[in-house]
Amino acid sequence: CNSTLIFGIETSCDDTGCAIINEEGNIIAESLKSQNLVHLRNGGIIPDVAQDLHRKYIEPTVTETLLKANLLMKDISAIAVTVKPGLPLSLAVGMKYAKHLARVNAKPIIPIHHMEAHALTVRMEHNVNFPYLVLLISGGHCLLAVVQNINKFLLLGKSIDMAPGELFDKIARRMKLRNVPELSTMCGGQAVETAALRATNPEMFNLPIPLVQVKDCNFSFNGLKTSVLYHLRKKEKEHKVVADALIPEISNLCCAALIATTKHLVHRTQRAMQFCSINNLIPENNKRLVVSGGVACNNYIFNALKAASVDYGYNVYRPSMKLCTDNGIMIAWNGLEKWRKNLDIMTNFNTLDLEATSQLGE
Ligand code: KG4
Ligand code: ZN
Repeated sequence: CNSTLIFGIETSCDDTGCAIINEEGNIIAESLKSQNLVHLRNGGIIPDVAQDLHRKYIEPTVTETLLKANLLMKDISAIAVTVKPGLPLSLAVGMKYAKHLARVNAKPIIPIHHMEAHALTVRMEHNVNFPYLVLLISGGHCLLAVVQNINKFLLLGKSIDMAPGELFDKIARRMKLRNVPELSTMCGGQAVETAALRATNPEMFNLPIPLVQVKDCNFSFNGLKTSVLYHLRKKEKEHKVVADALIPEISNLCCAALIATTKHLVHRTQRAMQFCSINNLIPENNKRLVVSGGVACNNYIFNALKAASVDYGYNVYRPSMKLCTDNGIMIAWNGLEKWRKNLDIMTNFNTLDLEATSQLGE
């Protein structure tokens, strides 16, 4: 069988993800083993625990993907694997296993940069040609960039402290939202979003919008975290807050945090649009913004970005939900895009460490 089949492997954080896609970019099979519940119980990701779970899951996930596709590794054209950025211990499991598979089956490896994969996945589902503006918002990252080509990115700004998903995860943990039965299996971002939908009066909290005076495209969420925790402590002192219950104060505070985060994201994205116009980085007659990463699943944030982009003449896209969060499909897709252009296909990786340089950093 001569047709192209790319096997993708993702282990950069807390999801063990595998997928096979064909030369048209159709998904042949996929498997995703999430560690979310374990990390929720531990109150956050402990790198050693994440590594142990990846070690446990990697082989069954690869095997399950091949079984679902009714294929053998010998039928695969190349193995695409995330090499950075991420938790080094987690990344190492995927890379080591990919190298093992490649060696045993004599297959090339295509090293993938996790953020580039997030930025490119949209092209699997939508006809978005280069160049376009991308806003990547997840648990580990927050950046604005122009995607100029498969391997050419122009970084416009990034977070100077934490990522928005991390902010939501920390707020949710501090509020013990996972003790609320209906929120118990959700990640922090989903829990905050769901709680916010119950808000009756978010204006009861005044949260500052970060970096309003700063004339660049960077982000900051530390100040917001401090403000949310300050208000929470104050309400606790007034005995207005009972942990584990979705009382109005909690819903209102979640909503205020979501609104402030959204305003910040919108503000910085609009600055990036102005920058792109002044510097002719995006064609005037074909302006597109792509939003991706786990936080892009948030409908309030996405709809606000969409509404705010109209004034700037931008059409806004996001991948379907399961492609916004970490998965093996986006890695396979990036591998396919590189395979088609004969980029970064490594056949001699025995002595070499897998490397990926990217304008998106780390
Ligand atoms: O892209 P992703 O799966 O992993 C990283 O690379 O970080 O993103 C996970 C992050 C978590 O912080 C999670 O709380 C956040 O995305 N998230 C959300 C939503 N769903 C997931 N944040 C806000 N609203 C959501 N609906
Ligand atoms: Zn990610």
